[in-house]
Amino acid sequence: MRVHVLGGGIIGLACSAELVGRGHDVTVVDPAPGSGASRAAAGMLSPAGEAWHGEGTLHALGVASGRLWPSYAAALALPMHDSGTLLVGVDAGDRQEVERQAALLATHGERVEVLDGRRARALEPALARVTAAAVLAQDRAVDPRAVVAALLSRLGPRVVPQAPSDRPDATVIATGAHLPRPYDHLVRGVRGEILRLRGDVGLRRVVRGWVRGEPVYVVPRRDRSGGPGEVVVGATSEEHDGPPVVTAGGVRRLLAAATELVPGLDRAELCEALARDRPGTADNRPLVGPTGDAGVFLAAGHFRHGVLLAPLTARLLADAVEGAAPDPTLDPRRFAAHTLQEDS
Ligand code: GLY
Repeated sequence: MRVHVLGGGIIGLACSAELVGRGHDVTVVDPAPGSGASRAAAGMLSPAGEAWHGEGTLHALGVASGRLWPSYAAALALPMHDSGTLLVGVDAGDRQEVERQAALLATHGERVEVLDGRRARALEPALARVTAAAVLAQDRAVDPRAVVAALLSRLGPRVVPQAPSDRPDATVIATGAHLPRPYDHLVRGVRGEILRLRGDVGLRRVVRGWVRGEPVYVVPRRDRSGGPGEVVVGATSEEHDGPPVVTAGGVRRLLAAATELVPGLDRAELCEALARDRPGTADNRPLVGPTGDAGVFLAAGHFRHGVLLAPLTARLLADAVEGAAPDPTLDPRRFAAHTLQEDS
């Protein structure tokens, strides 16, 4: 089939690579590939850390896609951070958040032990005093910018800035938080501000959690050339209707929380502050499948989970383009029918 994929973020590129792998003739259209939400993403592959009440279906999808990641990263010759994630809380209220997350994961059949602060610091000596922690052993991370670069290099001249004039058999819209009409009402922008620092902070695991009620994550990445590694600190989350700009308050809150949690970050170089819109949907699940308009498919609305869900989305989207019935929980038409389904 001749397929146009609109959008060269991690989702559009992953879908394109999958379609190419299945023998289709693909053109990816994006004047600035990888410059949207993929550019801001920290790259956590964290179904457990991102689990939320009433989102059992999304959690199961995340677990399924997370299982695909080791071979996906290997096929792109990319390393994975697989030392796990430590979920932590600083004060007594934050401790309750850790306990609540552990209880929620138990309802999904994932038992995690809540450790006291002393045991947490034995695992990660770079941490300041915390009151509670839980090891999320299966929550990993990748460098999304490296993933985008690897997919772009794989797709080569198939990525172009403007849509070709030929009429494709299928069009896949993968433009994240900014969908064209008539699909634009299906996603809303949820601003995330994120910081990139550089320094040796001595963290082995991804650390995420709450600092006096402020949610924060710290993602350490080894530098392959042996220099001080990148440390990604994220992220704010705000519903808004303006452009996604970095705000003074957002940077202040992220730095305050991250440096309280990992004091060594005080000496790290602050390299970048970036804001992008996460593509949120009404039920927080992505839109993967046919739109109802002939030959037009969506792969969008991945909210906080774009990197995690990329390999699974690519498969499901390619199946749908090839005529398979879409997963009803991801079918973009679920909203049109006003049949928002109960989640588990
Ligand atoms: N998945 C992390 C975030 O959206 O901030």
